[in-house]
Amino acid sequence: MSLIKKCIIDKDVSYKPIWLMRQAGRYLPEFRDIRKKNKNFINLCLNTKLVPEITLQPIKRFDLDAAIIFSDILMIPYGLGQSVTFNKGFGPELGIIDKSNLSNINEKNFKKKLDPIYNSMKIISENEILKNKDFIGFVGAPWTLLVYIINKVSPKKNLKKNFFTEQSLIDELLKLLVKYIKIHILNQIKSGATIIQVFDSWAGLLEEKDLEKYIYEPTKEIIDFIRTLNVPSICFPRNIKNYKKFVNIVNPDVISIDYNVNPKKILEEIDIPVQGGLNPVKLLEDKATLKQEAKKYLKVFKNHPYIFNLGHGVLPETNPNMVEYLIKFIKDN
Ligand code: CP3
Repeated sequence: MSLIKKCIIDKDVSYKPIWLMRQAGRYLPEFRDIRKKNKNFINLCLNTKLVPEITLQPIKRFDLDAAIIFSDILMIPYGLGQSVTFNKGFGPELGIIDKSNLSNINEKNFKKKLDPIYNSMKIISENEILKNKDFIGFVGAPWTLLVYIINKVSPKKNLKKNFFTEQSLIDELLKLLVKYIKIHILNQIKSGATIIQVFDSWAGLLEEKDLEKYIYEPTKEIIDFIRTLNVPSICFPRNIKNYKKFVNIVNPDVISIDYNVNPKKILEEIDIPVQGGLNPVKLLEDKATLKQEAKKYLKVFKNHPYIFNLGHGVLPETNPNMVEYLIKFIKDN
């Protein structure tokens, strides 16, 4: 059994496995070389020669316990026929979507558009380098995808004022998203994913009264579905106010925490395995500070199943030597 599965399934506390969100990305010079020559990010995510190479770049460099498919949560809106572009320094920009678009959507077209991702995943999962390691597939949670689809750009701190005005479009999209997120998960598992992480980056934008409809209910449906496939699930509901309630209702196998969460409080509140927490800016500081911060998490979760990770993705300005130092420190402890 992989070390991450020992932690999740056997609740083994003796070893703290490690992988990092955005472990393949712009902080690696070998990624920047490829990115420079491939300006279209969506096309890069659909490149079956480069995606396996990029996904395995951090595995070749560092002693990580899992690879994560190099892709994006916005490949689902793309698969549903919405245009998605990434502009330098601005982030993603999505095209118009209205009710007339929705009737054109079908599973065959969706699968056809995203097939290169599944082909890359098959290639990656067969690579010897992943023997005894996990291969993480992922999706955006229904709420976070709805935010991008309706808002068209990253909401930064707030949703646009008229976000909820087209209620019937929102209701229809939410149902559609749950269906296609499940399809995307199933296809990733069929292509070799051994764990699924659900990113809910904008969970923190909702008021308490809206959590049931937009977060708890649809995410629980996704997690129940993953469970029927016998694959562990990790939920990352960034900035959610009540983790205990989220875990009780949604019931994922692992809860991933962001860097604003007090790890001691989580330990008191939650029984399931925990992942992450370390602020990615600590990788920009000196080694002694980084080590001290990492130690804090190891100490809190000493007797609790814990997967070491960050509280958000590796920052582009990170020195790969600091990543190497962190991984080595975790492995030696
Ligand atoms: O973790 C990994 O290494 C796997 C790859 C991965 C990417 N995006 C690649 C990517 C994963 C897991 C994601 C998830 C994702 N994408 C999320 C959830 C996690 C989070 O960050 O909250 C979200 C909200 C997105 C949407 C998205 N994609 C944004 C907002 C941006 C632009 C901002 C940014 O960080 O650059 C992207 C682009 C993106 N996705 C890049 C990468 C490597 C950068 C593209 C580039 O090189 O310019």
